[in-house]
Amino acid sequence: MWPPEHAFLTGASSGIGRALSILLAEAGCGLTLVGRNASRLAETADMCRSKGAETRTLLMDVRDREGMVLAAGDTFDRRPVDLVIANAGVSGTLEGDPRAVLDINIGGVLNSVEPFIEPMCARGQGQIAIMSSIAGFKGFPNAPLYCASKAAVRSYGEALDARLRPLGVAVTVLCPGFVETPLTAVNAFPMPLIMSSEAAARRLLGGIERRKARVAFPLRMYAIVRLLECLPTGLANTLLARTAGRRAAKE
Ligand SMILES: NC(=O)c1ccc[n+]([C@@H]2O[C@H](COP(=O)([O-])OP(=O)(O)OC[C@H]3O[C@@H](n4cnc5c(N)ncnc54)[C@H](OP(=O)(O)O)[C@@H]3O)[C@@H](O)[C@H]2O)c1
Repeated sequence: MWPPEHAFLTGASSGIGRALSILLAEAGCGLTLVGRNASRLAETADMCRSKGAETRTLLMDVRDREGMVLAAGDTFDRRPVDLVIANAGVSGTLEGDPRAVLDINIGGVLNSVEPFIEPMCARGQGQIAIMSSIAGFKGFPNAPLYCASKAAVRSYGEALDARLRPLGVAVTVLCPGFVETPLTAVNAFPMPLIMSSEAAARRLLGGIERRKARVAFPLRMYAIVRLLECLPTGLANTLLARTAGRRAAKE
């Protein structure tokens, strides 16, 4: 069913999540938007309301497991949720504790998704989209924890899709390459084929609308990581280390 009547979206206060929220609002979807930063979340909500979308905000940290269960239950009771987008995430460089990337990018995704599984299955309909990344296909030397977190949720999402699709609930794993957002603005390394958050959100929503199991782009970058994945691990790591070394020498 497209557009969904009601979507629950985490990480809506910025970047890709904000762009997805606005596109969903334009399509006529009601929204429950989750984020931590009150003023930026309110800005997104205002943008969505200006498109005519009924929009509610929830100030939540996705690491709050009990809080997310309560918030999801209350949200579903108010109006059944057709689409969950577990998008909130950090790159690691923005949080003080490097391990926070695991708590937010893995634990936060589980906390955002799990409470919706049972009610969606009971209705026999719904869709869950999980934000992984192209970095979820291969461990890159500059971001081991981030890559590990994105590989974990990719694997989780794929397994969940195989389990839930026969029950009417599709799971779509989102694997974009570099996107211009505050998360990448701090990166000092080159980001080939980087695209705007609006363009990325359009690609992502197109795949969600088609209920694809995986949405991965840009194609060239996706092909490269799949190739690296097929190579013997030692060889792939040597190639990555050489590239990183050449970059460091240039800087
Ligand atoms: N940008 C890229 O190149 C790229 C590529 C592939 C995948 N991704 C993934 O896309 C997702 C969105 O990233 P982005 O680039 O749009 O970054 P962003 O602009 O920094 O947005 C991140 C969003 O996640 C929210 N968030 C972070 N930690 C949270 C927490 N503990 N609880 C609740 N919300 C939290 C932030 O909310 P507050 O600011 O309100 O805390 C913000 O809305 C992430 O999962 C990221 O890993 C990004």
